[in-house]
Amino acid sequence: MPELDQRDVDVELVGVTKRYGDLTAVAGVSLAVHRGEFFSILGPSGCGKTTILRMIAGFIEPSEGEILIAGKPTRGVAPNRRPTSLIFQHLALFPLMNVYDNIAFGLRMRGVSEGEISGRVAAQLELINLSGYGPKRVDQLSGGERQRVAIARSLIIAPTVLLLDEPLGALDLKLREHMKEELKAIQHRVGTTFIYITHDQGEALAMSDRVAVMSRGRIEQIGTPSEIYEQPQTRFVAYFVGENNAIAGRTAREDAGRVVVDTPEGRLVSRNPQGMEAGRSGLIFIRPEKLQCTAGDDRGSGPNALRGTLEEIFYEGPMVRMRVRLHTARQVAVVIPNLGRTVLPAVGDAVVVTFSADDAYLLPDGGA
Ligand SMILES: Nc1ncnc2c1ncn2[C@@H]1O[C@H](COP(=O)(O)OP(=O)(O)OP(=O)(O)O)[C@@H](O)[C@H]1O
Ligand SMILES: [Mg+2]
Repeated sequence: MPELDQRDVDVELVGVTKRYGDLTAVAGVSLAVHRGEFFSILGPSGCGKTTILRMIAGFIEPSEGEILIAGKPTRGVAPNRRPTSLIFQHLALFPLMNVYDNIAFGLRMRGVSEGEISGRVAAQLELINLSGYGPKRVDQLSGGERQRVAIARSLIIAPTVLLLDEPLGALDLKLREHMKEELKAIQHRVGTTFIYITHDQGEALAMSDRVAVMSRGRIEQIGTPSEIYEQPQTRFVAYFVGENNAIAGRTAREDAGRVVVDTPEGRLVSRNPQGMEAGRSGLIFIRPEKLQCTAGDDRGSGPNALRGTLEEIFYEGPMVRMRVRLHTARQVAVVIPNLGRTVLPAVGDAVVVTFSADDAYLLPDGGA
């Protein structure tokens, strides 16, 4: 990636740590969010996501390190003096106000004239596809409509950065899917920088320009959704983002960018993104959709073939998921698209699971 011009950076965290007594909620986080970017922070519950957002918004200050917004240090700057707007994890619209007054709130606080407010609220209502909803009470709205009102209320003050803390968390699955597309479309239209917090990897992958994956207060990896999914740099990222199969082994030798690994399943060949040398222990990761599963015990001609028994088949509509018990008793998950034509092996059949070395990647065991 070319060196970024500092002017293109909207939010920068430099070595940010937040401690609560003995607990380190955020540990030495550095990252830069670009202007107009949809940037997600993804990680399990308690890993420090909300803490980071609250520090950017100014509700709490870092114990160490620095946060810059549009190039300016923020220490000591109150939340209402920062060019940020935060949508809370547990969304708080004013229940006794109608939609119009909720959206107008930030402008009234800033002393904008009612004439101007009326035009800007109308524009926001149009942006979120709720024109005409101004007089409605908040409790007359669906969950998705409330979320959109919350977004309009935040965007109306034209923040440089919109901070969203799991805004879809409370919605049911179908609505969440819909709102994913809606949010992305709104971000496209307004061009505002979004920093989006979620513990849902599907959301992060689908919406973001880049994703930071966090674990226990630290950043594990920052990258585009495909980098995070296809080239995880740590075991945590490999396990947390999407589904993965892992097979432990010891490296025998390197071979033209590939590595030969001795495992209980036999010798396997994998990519070697971290250039691991011979004699190291590691884990080979292979995504379920990168595996093929055929009945019988013909190993074929490729290097990577695992023998086992088909233990279960789950019909999931667009795809079929299979669980195979290998002869070492280890299980692997296989996912194949439901093309309707494939003859599937039956439960109890002997099967061979194969994969290409290009689809497997070896990461160090690390001992941790
Ligand atoms: N005010 C506080 N005082 C003490 N500990 C806190 C405080 N706020 C957060 N923590 C702790 O810091 C850690 C990180 O909390 P945070 O709210 O940032 O997690 P999160 O990643 O947003 O989790 P979730 O996905 O559940 O919202 C947690 O262990 C939490 O208990
Ligand atoms: Mg949180």
